[in-house]
Amino acid sequence: MLNRDWMVTEEKLRPQMNVAVVGQNLVLLEEVGSTNDYLKQLAQEGAPDGTVVLAEQQSAGRGRLGRSFQSPAQKGIYLSVLLRPEIKAEKAINFTAVAAVAMCDALEQAVGLRPGIKWTNDLLMGGRKICGILTEMGADWQTGMVDYIVLGIGLNVNEQQDEFAPELRSIAGSVSMATGRQWDRNDIVAAMLNAIDRVYADWQAGRWSVDRYRADCTTIGKPVRVLRGDTVKHAVAEAVDDDFALVVRYEDGTVEHVFTGEVTVRGQEGYAH
Ligand code: BTN
Repeated sequence: MLNRDWMVTEEKLRPQMNVAVVGQNLVLLEEVGSTNDYLKQLAQEGAPDGTVVLAEQQSAGRGRLGRSFQSPAQKGIYLSVLLRPEIKAEKAINFTAVAAVAMCDALEQAVGLRPGIKWTNDLLMGGRKICGILTEMGADWQTGMVDYIVLGIGLNVNEQQDEFAPELRSIAGSVSMATGRQWDRNDIVAAMLNAIDRVYADWQAGRWSVDRYRADCTTIGKPVRVLRGDTVKHAVAEAVDDDFALVVRYEDGTVEHVFTGEVTVRGQEGYAH
């Protein structure tokens, strides 16, 4: 049973929202399999740029690399944003990293604590993963243009450590665990939509610089392990390049630009893929 007082509602959100596009069209659900799947369906039916789907709980929340995403009722924020920028598909790939910075802005504004980004787009607070982003895209194969981007964000808000599945307990955290108090998810959702709306406008207008990502990325300067097949190589993460690749220097002095999906990088924050 859902607690009516804890629901995310239009009445609580709208007065706090200041958006041009993101969240103008808002779909609030009590339960869904996955907000990404639901929104992809809406996208195919012609939903407008900026449509947002949010659910109080997900029964089949999806994470990256085919993993599931634990989405208990009214604990976290599970939302997906539909974006329809008029750009080539290859240019859209970077929007996940742009959105990670928007999430840092939103959390700093809403709860007074700025998370760090573990390359490429996991958000950490107190050394634990509090937020993951799953971006999916549809493109027109003739023109190479984006049809839609579905930006799915899962944020752990009011969970306590013993509420996570045993295998996640040492790596997952929540905003509440990091700040020592419970939060009204409405305030955080409004800040998220405002921040995503702002970066979406900046990014489309060419006003977004990778330096904003670099400033939040806590992996830079840390020792990392690059895993490829069965081989593990030790390196130090030196920088993030203009394509969001991690620039690593191996122990023998060679330098490589590492792309997500190609390899896995393990940080020191206790969380590892
Ligand atoms: C990850 O860390 O692997 C990404 C997790 C993304 C989870 C969110 S919750 C809202 C949206 N709907 C989904 O099924 N997944 C994303």
